[in-house]
Amino acid sequence: MSQRTARKIDNHGDAVELARRRVPKIVFHRLEGGTFAGQTQRETVDAFEHVRLVPRVGTHFERRDLGTTVLGHRISMPVLTAPAGGIRLSHPDGELGVTRAVGAAGTIQIVPAMTSFPIEAIADAAAGPIFFQLSYPGSLEAVEPVLERLKAAKVAAIVLTIDMPAGYRRERLYRERDALHGGNKAAGWGGPTLRNFHRIAPDVLRHPRWLYRYARDYRDAVRTPMLCRPDGSPMYVWEAPGALFSRPVVWADIPWLHDHWQGSIVVKGILSVEDARRAVDAGASAIVVSNHGGNMFDGAPPSVTVLPDIVDAVGGQVEVLLDSGVRRGTDVLRAVALGARAVLIGRSYAFAHAAAGEAGVRRVLEVYRTDIDRALALLGCGSIAELDRSYVQQRRTEMLSTTGG
Ligand SMILES: Cc1cc2nc3c(=O)[nH]c(=O)nc-3n(C[C@H](O)[C@H](O)[C@H](O)COP(=O)(O)O)c2cc1C
Repeated sequence: MSQRTARKIDNHGDAVELARRRVPKIVFHRLEGGTFAGQTQRETVDAFEHVRLVPRVGTHFERRDLGTTVLGHRISMPVLTAPAGGIRLSHPDGELGVTRAVGAAGTIQIVPAMTSFPIEAIADAAAGPIFFQLSYPGSLEAVEPVLERLKAAKVAAIVLTIDMPAGYRRERLYRERDALHGGNKAAGWGGPTLRNFHRIAPDVLRHPRWLYRYARDYRDAVRTPMLCRPDGSPMYVWEAPGALFSRPVVWADIPWLHDHWQGSIVVKGILSVEDARRAVDAGASAIVVSNHGGNMFDGAPPSVTVLPDIVDAVGGQVEVLLDSGVRRGTDVLRAVALGARAVLIGRSYAFAHAAAGEAGVRRVLEVYRTDIDRALALLGCGSIAELDRSYVQQRRTEMLSTTGG
Protein backbone atom coordinates (compact mmCIF):
# COMPACT_ATOMS: atom_id res chain seq x y z
CA MET A 1 0.00 0.00 0.00
CA SER A 2 2.70 2.45 1.07
CA GLN A 3 4.83 1.43 -1.92
CA ARG A 4 1.94 2.09 -4.28
CA THR A 5 1.32 5.49 -2.70
CA ALA A 6 5.02 6.32 -2.76
CA ARG A 7 5.21 5.61 -6.49
CA LYS A 8 2.66 8.35 -7.06
CA ILE A 9 5.12 10.95 -5.77
CA ASP A 10 6.87 12.68 -8.64
CA ASN A 11 7.36 16.06 -7.01
CA HIS A 12 6.70 18.03 -3.84
CA GLY A 13 3.15 18.91 -4.86
CA ASP A 14 2.25 15.22 -5.22
CA ALA A 15 3.52 14.49 -1.70
CA VAL A 16 1.56 17.41 -0.28
CA GLU A 17 -1.68 16.31 -1.93
CA LEU A 18 -1.27 12.66 -0.92
CA ALA A 19 -0.52 13.71 2.67
CA ARG A 20 -3.53 16.03 2.65
CA ARG A 21 -5.76 13.05 1.82
CA ARG A 22 -4.15 10.65 4.28
CA VAL A 23 -3.89 12.59 7.52
CA PRO A 24 -6.39 14.78 9.37
CA LYS A 25 -6.10 18.53 9.06
CA ILE A 26 -4.63 18.96 12.54
CA VAL A 27 -1.69 16.79 11.50
CA PHE A 28 -1.40 18.19 8.00
CA HIS A 29 -1.29 21.78 9.21
CA ARG A 30 1.56 20.96 11.59
CA LEU A 31 3.61 19.83 8.62
CA GLU A 32 2.53 22.77 6.52
CA GLY A 33 3.46 25.13 9.37
CA GLY A 34 4.15 28.77 8.67
CA THR A 35 3.81 31.38 11.40
CA PHE A 36 1.85 34.60 11.73
CA ALA A 37 0.93 35.81 8.22
CA GLY A 38 3.05 33.15 6.51
CA GLN A 39 5.00 35.74 4.52
CA THR A 40 8.45 34.26 5.10
CA GLN A 41 7.23 30.78 4.30
CA ARG A 42 5.80 31.88 0.94
CA GLU A 43 8.69 34.11 -0.04
CA THR A 44 11.27 31.51 0.92
CA VAL A 45 9.90 29.06 -1.63
CA ASP A 46 9.35 31.72 -4.30
CA ALA A 47 12.87 33.14 -3.92
CA PHE A 48 14.39 30.07 -5.58
CA GLU A 49 12.58 30.91 -8.81
CA HIS A 50 14.52 34.16 -9.01
CA VAL A 51 17.85 32.35 -9.06
CA ARG A 52 18.33 31.43 -12.72
CA LEU A 53 20.95 28.96 -13.82
CA VAL A 54 22.41 29.41 -17.29
CA PRO A 55 23.19 26.16 -19.14
CA ARG A 56 26.50 25.56 -20.94
CA VAL A 57 25.43 24.05 -24.21
CA GLY A 58 27.29 21.73 -26.51
CA THR A 59 28.56 19.59 -23.63
CA HIS A 60 27.78 15.98 -22.86
CA PHE A 61 28.74 14.00 -19.80
CA GLU A 62 27.89 10.33 -19.95
CA ARG A 63 27.73 10.26 -16.14
CA ARG A 64 27.35 13.08 -13.67
CA ASP A 65 28.96 13.00 -10.24
CA LEU A 66 26.41 14.02 -7.61
CA GLY A 67 28.60 13.20 -4.63
CA THR A 68 30.07 15.61 -2.11
CA THR A 69 31.22 15.63 1.49
CA VAL A 70 29.79 17.21 4.62
CA LEU A 71 32.21 17.52 7.55
CA GLY A 72 34.39 14.96 5.82
CA HIS A 73 31.60 12.40 5.39
CA ARG A 74 31.04 11.35 1.79
CA ILE A 75 27.41 11.53 0.69
CA SER A 76 25.89 10.46 -2.59
CA MET A 77 24.15 13.78 -3.27
CA PRO A 78 24.07 17.20 -1.59
CA VAL A 79 20.76 16.61 0.20
CA LEU A 80 20.40 15.85 3.93
CA THR A 81 17.18 15.50 5.87
CA ALA A 82 16.48 18.38 8.27
CA PRO A 83 15.43 17.71 11.85
CA ALA A 84 11.63 17.57 11.97
CA GLY A 85 10.14 16.79 15.36
CA GLY A 86 6.82 15.03 15.81
CA ILE A 87 6.58 13.35 12.41
CA ARG A 88 5.58 10.02 13.95
CA LEU A 89 2.19 11.58 14.63
CA SER A 90 1.57 11.44 10.89
CA HIS A 91 2.89 7.91 10.27
CA PRO A 92 4.27 5.24 12.65
CA ASP A 93 7.47 4.78 10.61
CA GLY A 94 8.62 8.11 12.05
CA GLU A 95 12.28 9.02 12.41
CA LEU A 96 13.38 5.38 12.16
CA GLY A 97 11.75 5.08 8.73
CA VAL A 98 13.69 8.20 7.75
CA THR A 99 16.92 6.57 9.02
CA ARG A 100 16.41 3.59 6.73
CA ALA A 101 15.43 5.71 3.74
CA VAL A 102 18.38 8.04 4.21
CA GLY A 103 20.73 5.07 4.62
CA ALA A 104 19.51 3.60 1.34
CA ALA A 105 20.08 6.96 -0.34
CA GLY A 106 23.62 7.23 1.02
CA THR A 107 23.20 10.56 2.74
CA ILE A 108 22.85 11.98 6.27
CA GLN A 109 19.85 12.29 8.57
CA ILE A 110 19.75 15.05 11.16
CA VAL A 111 17.76 13.43 13.92
CA PRO A 112 15.53 15.90 15.78
CA ALA A 113 15.83 16.35 19.54
CA MET A 114 12.12 15.52 19.64
CA THR A 115 12.62 12.12 18.02
CA SER A 116 10.15 9.49 19.17
CA PHE A 117 12.79 6.77 18.73
CA PRO A 118 15.86 6.63 20.99
CA ILE A 119 19.20 7.42 19.38
CA GLU A 120 20.37 3.86 20.09
CA ALA A 121 17.65 2.39 17.84
CA ILE A 122 18.40 4.95 15.15
CA ALA A 123 22.15 4.26 15.32
CA ASP A 124 21.45 0.52 14.95
CA ALA A 125 19.40 1.12 11.82
CA ALA A 126 21.71 3.72 10.29
CA ALA A 127 23.83 2.79 7.28
CA GLY A 128 26.14 5.81 7.62
CA PRO A 129 26.87 8.81 9.83
CA ILE A 130 24.06 10.52 11.70
CA PHE A 131 23.83 14.06 13.06
CA PHE A 132 21.69 14.95 16.06
CA GLN A 133 19.87 18.22 16.67
CA LEU A 134 20.43 18.94 20.32
CA SER A 135 17.95 20.83 22.50
CA TYR A 136 18.07 21.25 26.24
CA PRO A 137 15.35 19.68 28.37
CA GLY A 138 15.02 22.73 30.63
CA SER A 139 18.69 23.52 31.31
CA LEU A 140 22.05 23.22 29.57
CA GLU A 141 23.45 20.90 32.22
CA ALA A 142 20.50 18.54 31.79
CA VAL A 143 21.94 17.69 28.39
CA GLU A 144 25.01 15.91 29.80
CA PRO A 145 23.48 12.41 29.88
CA VAL A 146 22.17 13.00 26.35
CA LEU A 147 25.69 13.85 25.15
CA GLU A 148 26.96 10.59 26.67
CA ARG A 149 24.28 8.65 24.79
CA LEU A 150 25.16 10.46 21.56
CA LYS A 151 28.83 9.62 21.98
CA ALA A 152 28.04 5.97 22.69
CA ALA A 153 25.84 5.91 19.56
CA LYS A 154 28.75 7.38 17.55
CA VAL A 155 26.78 10.39 16.42
CA ALA A 156 29.01 12.31 14.01
CA ALA A 157 27.93 15.90 14.83
CA ILE A 158 25.52 17.84 16.97
CA VAL A 159 23.34 20.49 15.38
CA LEU A 160 22.35 23.50 17.49
CA THR A 161 19.20 25.20 16.29
CA ILE A 162 19.87 28.74 17.35
CA ASP A 163 16.81 30.47 15.89
CA MET A 164 14.23 29.43 18.48
CA PRO A 165 14.43 32.12 21.18
CA ALA A 166 10.70 32.12 21.82
CA GLY A 167 7.51 30.33 20.87
CA TYR A 168 5.89 31.09 17.53
CA ARG A 169 2.29 31.75 16.63
CA ARG A 170 0.60 29.31 14.34
CA GLU A 171 -2.66 31.01 13.67
CA ARG A 172 -4.02 28.27 11.46
CA LEU A 173 -3.54 25.72 14.20
CA TYR A 174 -5.14 27.87 16.85
CA ARG A 175 -8.21 28.33 14.75
CA GLU A 176 -8.67 24.60 14.77
CA ARG A 177 -7.82 24.41 18.45
CA ASP A 178 -6.22 21.07 18.20
CA ALA A 179 -8.16 18.84 20.51
CA LEU A 180 -5.89 15.84 20.34
CA HIS A 181 -2.82 17.76 21.48
CA GLY A 182 -4.19 21.27 21.71
CA GLY A 183 -4.10 24.00 24.23
CA ASN A 184 -0.55 25.33 24.39
CA LYS A 185 -0.83 28.59 22.51
CA ALA A 186 2.75 29.65 23.18
CA ALA A 187 4.24 26.62 21.48
CA GLY A 188 1.43 25.70 19.14
CA TRP A 189 1.48 22.27 20.68
CA GLY A 190 -0.19 21.29 23.95
CA GLY A 191 -1.42 18.44 26.09
CA PRO A 192 -4.30 16.15 25.19
CA THR A 193 -7.75 17.47 25.89
CA LEU A 194 -11.16 16.31 24.87
CA ARG A 195 -12.53 19.83 25.34
CA ASN A 196 -12.70 20.64 21.67
CA PHE A 197 -12.71 17.15 20.26
CA HIS A 198 -16.14 17.59 18.73
CA ARG A 199 -14.66 20.23 16.42
CA ILE A 200 -12.10 17.97 14.84
CA ALA A 201 -13.86 14.62 15.28
CA PRO A 202 -15.62 14.64 11.89
CA ASP A 203 -12.35 15.27 10.07
CA VAL A 204 -10.38 12.75 12.14
CA LEU A 205 -13.04 10.09 11.57
CA ARG A 206 -12.73 10.61 7.83
CA HIS A 207 -9.20 9.17 8.16
CA PRO A 208 -9.82 5.75 9.71
CA ARG A 209 -6.50 4.28 8.52
CA TRP A 210 -4.54 7.10 10.14
CA LEU A 211 -6.68 6.85 13.28
CA TYR A 212 -6.14 3.09 13.56
CA ARG A 213 -2.36 3.40 13.18
CA TYR A 214 -2.22 6.39 15.50
CA ALA A 215 -4.22 4.64 18.23
CA ARG A 216 -1.96 1.55 17.94
CA ASP A 217 1.23 3.61 18.02
CA TYR A 218 0.05 6.32 20.39
CA ARG A 219 2.04 5.39 23.51
CA ASP A 220 5.39 5.58 21.71
CA ALA A 221 4.49 8.26 19.18
CA VAL A 222 3.88 10.87 21.86
CA ARG A 223 7.09 10.23 23.81
CA THR A 224 10.44 11.95 23.29
CA PRO A 225 13.12 9.57 24.62
CA MET A 226 15.95 12.06 24.00
CA LEU A 227 14.25 14.80 26.02
CA CYS A 228 13.84 13.56 29.56
CA ARG A 229 12.47 14.99 32.76
CA PRO A 230 14.80 15.32 35.76
CA ASP A 231 13.76 11.81 36.90
CA GLY A 232 14.96 10.39 33.56
CA SER A 233 11.53 9.60 32.13
CA PRO A 234 10.85 10.78 28.57
CA MET A 235 8.71 13.85 28.08
CA TYR A 236 5.51 13.89 26.09
CA VAL A 237 5.67 15.73 22.77
CA TRP A 238 3.40 18.42 24.15
CA GLU A 239 5.70 19.01 27.12
CA ALA A 240 8.82 19.35 25.00
CA PRO A 241 8.30 22.79 23.39
CA GLY A 242 7.66 24.38 26.80
CA ALA A 243 10.95 22.91 28.10
CA LEU A 244 12.89 23.89 24.97
CA PHE A 245 11.60 27.44 24.84
CA SER A 246 12.33 27.87 28.55
CA ARG A 247 16.03 27.38 27.78
CA PRO A 248 16.83 28.11 24.13
CA VAL A 249 20.31 27.75 22.63
CA VAL A 250 22.49 30.87 23.02
CA TRP A 251 26.02 31.64 21.83
CA ALA A 252 27.42 31.48 25.36
CA ASP A 253 26.59 27.74 25.51
CA ILE A 254 29.00 26.78 22.76
CA PRO A 255 32.26 26.74 24.79
CA TRP A 256 30.56 24.49 27.39
CA LEU A 257 29.32 22.23 24.62
CA HIS A 258 32.79 22.09 23.06
CA ASP A 259 34.19 20.92 26.40
CA HIS A 260 31.52 18.29 26.92
CA TRP A 261 31.01 17.09 23.36
CA GLN A 262 34.48 17.36 21.85
CA GLY A 263 33.18 16.79 18.35
CA SER A 264 31.76 18.70 15.42
CA ILE A 265 29.13 21.35 16.12
CA VAL A 266 26.82 22.67 13.41
CA VAL A 267 24.88 25.89 14.06
CA LYS A 268 21.50 26.01 12.32
CA GLY A 269 19.39 29.11 11.80
CA ILE A 270 21.87 31.73 10.55
CA LEU A 271 20.55 34.60 8.40
CA SER A 272 23.17 37.33 8.77
CA VAL A 273 26.86 37.74 8.08
CA GLU A 274 27.33 38.92 11.68
CA ASP A 275 25.90 35.73 13.12
CA ALA A 276 27.81 33.61 10.62
CA ARG A 277 31.04 35.22 11.87
CA ARG A 278 29.93 34.63 15.43
CA ALA A 279 29.45 30.95 14.68
CA VAL A 280 32.95 30.78 13.20
CA ASP A 281 34.40 32.54 16.25
CA ALA A 282 32.54 30.11 18.51
CA GLY A 283 34.26 27.21 16.74
CA ALA A 284 31.38 25.83 14.67
CA SER A 285 32.42 23.34 11.99
CA ALA A 286 29.47 24.20 9.77
CA ILE A 287 26.48 26.52 9.69
CA VAL A 288 23.03 26.11 8.23
CA VAL A 289 21.66 29.24 6.59
CA SER A 290 18.01 28.82 7.49
CA ASN A 291 14.85 30.68 8.44
CA HIS A 292 13.40 27.46 9.87
CA GLY A 293 11.24 27.03 6.78
CA GLY A 294 9.29 30.15 7.76
CA ASN A 295 8.27 28.46 11.00
CA MET A 296 9.81 30.96 13.40
CA PHE A 297 10.10 34.68 12.72
CA ASP A 298 7.68 35.84 10.03
CA GLY A 299 9.29 38.67 8.08
CA ALA A 300 12.73 37.06 7.97
CA PRO A 301 14.42 36.96 4.55
CA PRO A 302 14.39 33.88 2.34
CA SER A 303 17.52 31.88 3.14
CA VAL A 304 18.65 31.66 -0.50
CA THR A 305 18.77 35.48 -0.75
CA VAL A 306 21.23 35.83 2.16
CA LEU A 307 23.32 32.81 1.20
CA PRO A 308 25.83 34.50 -1.19
CA ASP A 309 26.91 37.19 1.31
CA ILE A 310 27.31 34.61 4.07
CA VAL A 311 29.34 32.33 1.82
CA ASP A 312 31.56 35.25 0.84
CA ALA A 313 32.10 36.16 4.49
CA VAL A 314 32.75 32.74 6.07
CA GLY A 315 32.75 30.12 3.29
CA GLY A 316 36.52 29.76 3.55
CA GLN A 317 36.34 28.94 7.26
CA VAL A 318 33.27 26.73 7.75
CA GLU A 319 31.03 24.60 5.61
CA VAL A 320 27.88 26.46 4.69
CA LEU A 321 24.70 24.44 4.33
CA LEU A 322 21.26 25.83 3.51
CA ASP A 323 17.67 24.95 4.22
CA SER A 324 14.21 26.44 3.86
CA GLY A 325 12.16 26.40 0.71
CA VAL A 326 14.00 23.63 -1.15
CA ARG A 327 11.36 21.79 -3.15
CA ARG A 328 13.12 20.16 -6.10
CA GLY A 329 16.46 19.18 -7.59
CA THR A 330 16.94 22.49 -9.38
CA ASP A 331 16.65 24.30 -6.03
CA VAL A 332 19.48 22.14 -4.74
CA LEU A 333 21.62 23.14 -7.72
CA ARG A 334 20.73 26.80 -7.22
CA ALA A 335 21.87 26.69 -3.60
CA VAL A 336 25.05 24.77 -4.45
CA ALA A 337 25.87 27.17 -7.30
CA LEU A 338 25.54 30.05 -4.85
CA GLY A 339 28.04 28.40 -2.54
CA ALA A 340 26.16 25.96 -0.28
CA ARG A 341 27.94 22.66 0.25
CA ALA A 342 24.61 20.86 0.56
CA VAL A 343 20.99 21.52 1.49
CA LEU A 344 18.62 20.16 4.11
CA ILE A 345 15.08 19.29 3.11
CA GLY A 346 12.26 19.57 5.65
CA ARG A 347 8.72 19.54 4.35
CA SER A 348 9.79 17.71 1.20
CA TYR A 349 10.34 14.54 3.15
CA ALA A 350 7.89 15.24 6.00
CA PHE A 351 4.92 15.28 3.60
CA ALA A 352 6.15 12.19 1.76
CA HIS A 353 6.53 10.43 5.11
CA ALA A 354 2.98 11.42 6.08
CA ALA A 355 1.75 10.04 2.76
CA ALA A 356 3.64 6.74 2.70
CA GLY A 357 6.03 6.41 5.65
CA GLU A 358 9.54 5.15 4.93
CA ALA A 359 8.60 4.30 1.34
CA GLY A 360 7.56 7.90 0.79
CA VAL A 361 10.88 9.23 2.07
CA ARG A 362 12.79 6.73 -0.08
CA ARG A 363 10.80 7.86 -3.07
CA VAL A 364 11.34 11.55 -2.43
CA LEU A 365 15.10 11.06 -2.12
CA GLU A 366 15.08 9.09 -5.39
CA VAL A 367 13.15 11.90 -7.07
CA TYR A 368 15.72 14.43 -5.81
CA ARG A 369 18.55 12.27 -7.13
CA THR A 370 16.99 11.85 -10.56
CA ASP A 371 16.11 15.54 -10.78
CA ILE A 372 19.59 16.69 -9.75
CA ASP A 373 21.21 14.32 -12.20
CA ARG A 374 18.98 15.38 -15.08
CA ALA A 375 19.35 19.07 -14.24
CA LEU A 376 23.15 18.75 -14.14
CA ALA A 377 23.08 17.11 -17.57
CA LEU A 378 20.87 19.86 -18.97
CA LEU A 379 23.05 22.48 -17.35
CA GLY A 380 26.10 21.02 -19.08
CA CYS A 381 27.89 20.41 -15.81
CA GLY A 382 29.68 17.15 -15.04
CA SER A 383 29.63 17.26 -11.27
CA ILE A 384 28.32 18.99 -8.19
CA ALA A 385 31.89 20.03 -7.40
CA GLU A 386 32.11 22.08 -10.62
CA LEU A 387 28.95 24.05 -9.98
CA ASP A 388 29.68 27.66 -9.08
CA ARG A 389 28.36 31.19 -9.49
CA SER A 390 29.44 31.33 -13.11
CA TYR A 391 26.27 29.29 -13.77
CA VAL A 392 24.04 31.84 -12.00
CA GLN A 393 22.48 34.63 -14.03
CA GLN A 394 23.38 38.06 -12.70
CA ARG A 395 20.40 40.16 -11.74
CA ARG A 396 19.37 42.52 -14.52
CA THR A 397 20.08 45.63 -12.46
CA GLU A 398 23.62 44.44 -11.85
CA MET A 399 24.05 43.71 -15.56
CA LEU A 400 22.83 47.17 -16.45
CA SER A 401 25.22 48.81 -14.03
CA THR A 402 28.21 46.83 -15.30
CA THR A 403 27.38 47.70 -18.92
CA GLY A 404 26.73 51.31 -17.99
CA GLY A 405 23.09 51.01 -19.15
C1 LIG B 1 7.10 19.39 10.67
C2 LIG B 1 8.38 20.11 10.96
C3 LIG B 1 9.01 19.93 12.16
C4 LIG B 1 10.23 20.58 12.42
N1 LIG B 1 10.85 20.34 13.60
C5 LIG B 1 12.08 20.88 13.82
C6 LIG B 1 12.81 20.55 14.98
O1 LIG B 1 12.34 19.77 15.80
N2 LIG B 1 14.04 21.11 15.13
C7 LIG B 1 14.58 21.97 14.22
O2 LIG B 1 15.70 22.44 14.39
N3 LIG B 1 13.89 22.30 13.11
C8 LIG B 1 12.68 21.77 12.88
N4 LIG B 1 12.00 22.08 11.74
C9 LIG B 1 12.63 22.96 10.75
C10 LIG B 1 13.47 22.13 9.77
O3 LIG B 1 14.58 21.56 10.38
C11 LIG B 1 13.94 22.98 8.58
O4 LIG B 1 14.66 24.08 9.06
C12 LIG B 1 12.80 23.46 7.70
O5 LIG B 1 11.80 22.48 7.58
C13 LIG B 1 13.35 23.78 6.32
O6 LIG B 1 12.38 24.32 5.50
P1 LIG B 1 11.52 23.46 4.43
O7 LIG B 1 10.49 22.75 5.23
O8 LIG B 1 10.96 24.53 3.57
O9 LIG B 1 12.46 22.52 3.74
C14 LIG B 1 10.79 21.45 11.46
C15 LIG B 1 10.13 21.63 10.24
C16 LIG B 1 8.94 20.98 9.98
C17 LIG B 1 8.27 21.20 8.65
